[in-house]
Amino acid sequence: MLSIAAAATLALASSAAAQSTITAAPSPSQVAKAVKRAESSPLPLTSYSYAWGEQPYQVNPYNVGRGPQSGYNICNSTTSGPDAQCQTLVANNASDFCLWGSPTTDATGTIGDIEAAVVAYCTNDKWGARVLPPGAITGLQVLHTSEYIQWTGHINMTGLNLMADDTGGELDPHGADQLGNPLGGLVFSTGLPSGDNSTLQQSISWTNFVGSGLFCMKLCGPMSSPNYCENKFDLLGCAYNMPAAYEDGVFNECDSDLQSIVGTYVGTDGKTSTWSQPESLPATSTLPWTPVVPSSSNCRTYQSTDLFPASLLGYQSTAAAAASSTSAASSATSTGSAASSRSGASSAQVTGTGAAAAAQSSGGSTSGASHVVASGGALAFVGALVAALV
Ligand SMILES: *[C@@H]1O[C@H](CO)[C@@H](O)[C@H](O)[C@H]1NC(C)=O
Ligand SMILES: *[C@@H]1O[C@H](CO)[C@@H](O)[C@H](O)[C@H]1NC(C)=O
Ligand SMILES: *[C@@H]1O[C@H](CO)[C@@H](O)[C@H](O)[C@H]1NC(C)=O
Ligand SMILES: *[C@@H]1O[C@H](CO)[C@@H](O)[C@H](O)[C@H]1NC(C)=O
Repeated sequence: MLSIAAAATLALASSAAAQSTITAAPSPSQVAKAVKRAESSPLPLTSYSYAWGEQPYQVNPYNVGRGPQSGYNICNSTTSGPDAQCQTLVANNASDFCLWGSPTTDATGTIGDIEAAVVAYCTNDKWGARVLPPGAITGLQVLHTSEYIQWTGHINMTGLNLMADDTGGELDPHGADQLGNPLGGLVFSTGLPSGDNSTLQQSISWTNFVGSGLFCMKLCGPMSSPNYCENKFDLLGCAYNMPAAYEDGVFNECDSDLQSIVGTYVGTDGKTSTWSQPESLPATSTLPWTPVVPSSSNCRTYQSTDLFPASLLGYQSTAAAAASSTSAASSATSTGSAASSRSGASSAQVTGTGAAAAAQSSGGSTSGASHVVASGGALAFVGALVAALV
């Protein structure tokens, strides 16, 4: 095995060789520089795996490309609060989970502005992150399957410090440079298919959309095959990537069958076909299939106040607390395919994938990172459904 120094020397020598046939040996300072660079380049985000509690202060401290990451991965009672920059997300069950939201402390941006720098917003203050304001989540369904665990629902997006009318975007551990959105973001759960509902395990493969008042997040287990958390279809919204009930005012947690593989469908000709996502979707387009909500069973239905009691929230306002108690749960116990609801059918309006810079307003981060985004990665537009699809 080559040492880093030897590998760096070789890399230097071979790049020099391409330019001239007679090559002087690299100087010690050239070697030192190459070694430093080799040591300081981040690996793809999905290459980093940690046992809970072993994660470093920052997975991506490297000043390379979009890096370093803007926040940190060690989150605790010191970091918890409204300006936390925690980039370790924990999602366990219907009452205990986090979603990615804006690193700012006001709702003036869109997910597209800040996707590289999103931070965790949780249903309680246990995870050293921000706490979702009471009443922010107005409908929720958690589905446990043999390959993934999934959260879907309705949200007041200002609770994530996103503009209420943001049509949204998609977050995942890839991006064009493989550094993830957010950079350095880690995801842990006790509820992965291989989990025991008490030990936190890292999910390497996950995807999260938020926009137009809807959210969806899916965490796959390490062995998920096919990969149900693949993010190939980031221009399609929640309804296509994570078909579920999306009932506002209803809160439940169920066991569920697996969804169909996104993009694979049986057409009117009776043949199974595979759809590929184009560069962009026309403003009015019709996809050749309608997502089917998988059958679920063993649903437990809650009131929002059962799941998110004020006592668990780190901070709150009485007005917002009152609002959280208005969402009554219905008696729905199962969501069959008939529930392919309008509210969940989202998608397909594409307004571009441009990156924008957002001003950092927080005091939590010591990394000096800015919240400049620039992923080249596609943004998804979760809301704004083309009527023809429903
Ligand atoms: C709490 O988190 C901060 C920020 O990551 C870290 O600097 C500090 O060492 C942590 N404290 C403990 C006790 O782990
Ligand atoms: C979620 O898990 C926590 C423990 O991690 C438990 O206290 C809580 O009751 C669970 N919530 C639901 C809705 O099962
Ligand atoms: C969303 O939350 C904001 C801030 O808490 C609140 O002012 C607004 O009324 C909420 N919107 C809805 C539709 O509940
Ligand atoms: C974990 O909890 C979920 C939801 O209650 C349940 O479906 C699953 O069987 C549990 N897993 C284990 C290993 O107990």
